[in-house]
Amino acid sequence: MFSPVDDLASLSGDRELEGHFLSRWMAVAFVDSLPTPEARRVFAVGSRSFVVARDRGGALHVFVNACTHRGTRLCRGAGRGRMRCPYHGWVFGCDGRLLGATRRSGLPPFDDAQMSLRRLAVRCVGPVVFAHRDPAAALDLDPELRAEVERLGGTPARRWRRVRVSWRRLLRGQGSGSTHRVLGANLILERFASGVRLRLVAPRARGGSVVEERAYGLGLFARARFLLGR
Ligand code: FES
Repeated sequence: MFSPVDDLASLSGDRELEGHFLSRWMAVAFVDSLPTPEARRVFAVGSRSFVVARDRGGALHVFVNACTHRGTRLCRGAGRGRMRCPYHGWVFGCDGRLLGATRRSGLPPFDDAQMSLRRLAVRCVGPVVFAHRDPAAALDLDPELRAEVERLGGTPARRWRRVRVSWRRLLRGQGSGSTHRVLGANLILERFASGVRLRLVAPRARGGSVVEERAYGLGLFARARFLLGR
């Protein structure tokens, strides 16, 4: 029987980075970055890549960004609709199901339903999508911080530019204000007198991590600080 490739079976890249992120609930996207059915985008953890997708019914999913035929990376950046593997053309829906498979003749028999994309556990906390490598993982986020982030759901947010800095430095809060707190593996919550900023860290082993930000209810002074990158 042919079995799907499992790209998460072991840690093989940067062990410190992957150990930190893949053993915890990690923030993988802001909900507003997937506004419509069949929207999808990639989230990277070092050399690992995941697809965050909204299916036709509006449900959010997170998958390993690897074709279950031979493990080829399926997509890059942001996009919409079905995912077609660039190697042999297998097609997957935004719900992870295998919709079409070519080159069956050289393979042992398999059931299409067993060849869906490898799925992670998913939970939405306010405006943030979290995922965990273990599909059965319980949501064990800090209750106080979680409640604070949940209350931001539905609140209009300002978007800020992406910055590139070390993920270790960011998560330790070096150079930031005293209200710096981290939820799960990588969601930084910073409180200011006039509002809150969330920073979602997509870590890279080299060249600086990508940080996506949302700001809620912040005044002019805080906005000026962000634009200066502080
Ligand atoms: S590796 Fe994707 S279709 Fe073959």
